[in-house]
Amino acid sequence: MNNRITLFPYKTNINDADHLSIGGCDAVELAARYGTPLYLFDEPTLRGRCREFKDEFGKRHPNTTVVYAGKAFLHTSLAALLKEEGLGLDVVSGGELHIAKTADFPPERIYFHGNNKSADELSAALKQQVGRIVVDNIDELRVLAALADESGRTQDILLRITPGVDAHTHSHIATGGVGSKFGFALCDAEEGISCAMLLPGVNLVGLHFHVGSLIDEATPYLDALDVVMKLAFDAKEKYAVGLRELNVGGGYAVPYTVEDKVPDISYYAGQITGRIMVLCQSLNMAPPKLVIEPGRSIVAQSGVALYRVGSIKDVAGPVRYVAVDGGMADNIRPALYAARYEAVLANRMNEENTEQVTIAGHFCESGDILVHDIMLPPVSSGDIIAVPVCGAYCLPMASNYNAALRPPIVMLSDDSDRLVRRRETYQDITRCDMP
Ligand code: LLP
Repeated sequence: MNNRITLFPYKTNINDADHLSIGGCDAVELAARYGTPLYLFDEPTLRGRCREFKDEFGKRHPNTTVVYAGKAFLHTSLAALLKEEGLGLDVVSGGELHIAKTADFPPERIYFHGNNKSADELSAALKQQVGRIVVDNIDELRVLAALADESGRTQDILLRITPGVDAHTHSHIATGGVGSKFGFALCDAEEGISCAMLLPGVNLVGLHFHVGSLIDEATPYLDALDVVMKLAFDAKEKYAVGLRELNVGGGYAVPYTVEDKVPDISYYAGQITGRIMVLCQSLNMAPPKLVIEPGRSIVAQSGVALYRVGSIKDVAGPVRYVAVDGGMADNIRPALYAARYEAVLANRMNEENTEQVTIAGHFCESGDILVHDIMLPPVSSGDIIAVPVCGAYCLPMASNYNAALRPPIVMLSDDSDRLVRRRETYQDITRCDMP
């Protein structure tokens, strides 16, 4: 059995045709029917991950709300699924708010984030009556308070605090350190809290932090908890008001390769809720409502990208380039973060991996390499390559580079497949051009 299969969605195996089968659907057949590149999302895996987060945190800290971070991947069908699973939704733009609204997502379960929300976006969020706005800075706080007051609404808010901890992750995705562009620096936090207490139109219910993404240890969360709960304690002492909500952000890692070792959700849950209890006891505070914001760890495993192999080329090195029909336009992560992925030959799953190849994309940049130096069976033009763990941050960061058509999305469930987003067309590419 190909051990890379463990990275794919829950019900993945090899069928009688020696093809990759996901949720009872033949990946090679799907590639032929819908064309490539193609993104598949497995509904049972999505639901399973939502439930795992709810269960693991909920059994340790019953007053927990799981809010999915939509930036990892957002689509109306996913929003509908999250609504059914009882999760909240973290949005970071007017566009994501629009998707939530289109999906009829309950507004009271929406958390609106962002380091530079425009007045228009804030007004839209107020109009939509979102549950929480997570305020990033003092300018935003003043603008929001004025807009809310004008509209006759009192908006529940959290303040995002930069705890000043090192998240030990890629510098592009570390957000909680000193000097981060996100949140109130610790030296400004007290002013933010007192201002929020005084301003009309806003109701400060708690604090938020997000230390970064792809965090494979508990320490950054625990360090941030020490800092932010002390801040909540000081606010309670000073203003005699308990901050009843504590949002510890997302960032929980997932394995991308068979070598990656990352903690289970239960580990993060045990460590985080344990530290909250200890701090509540030592600071003599009531346990807060806990909010977590996983993005990647809910969607990553459920997503699979399928590509068709075109030209194959041997060059000095020696390197054998196997070129596929997608690449950095649908998955920028290898080029942007040196992200490492695995791949399988979906149409010959049982064949042995005897050749080292580099999977190249078809875009006009030397950096457009999907996977460097991977062992695969001997590859031929026309073969289907499947890349697992493509559910998070691939499609949301996809572009029309080289006027590429963004790929379709197929949702898999109960042995059936459903097209939820069509492939773009050349007409889509020129649709917004004015004469
Ligand atoms: N909450 C906040 C406030 C965030 O900024 C983020 C992610 C999350 C939650 C969710 O984090 P997650 O659980 O997905 O790690 N494009 C990068 C990742 C950027 C993460 C941005 N913020 C990548 O492809 O690795």
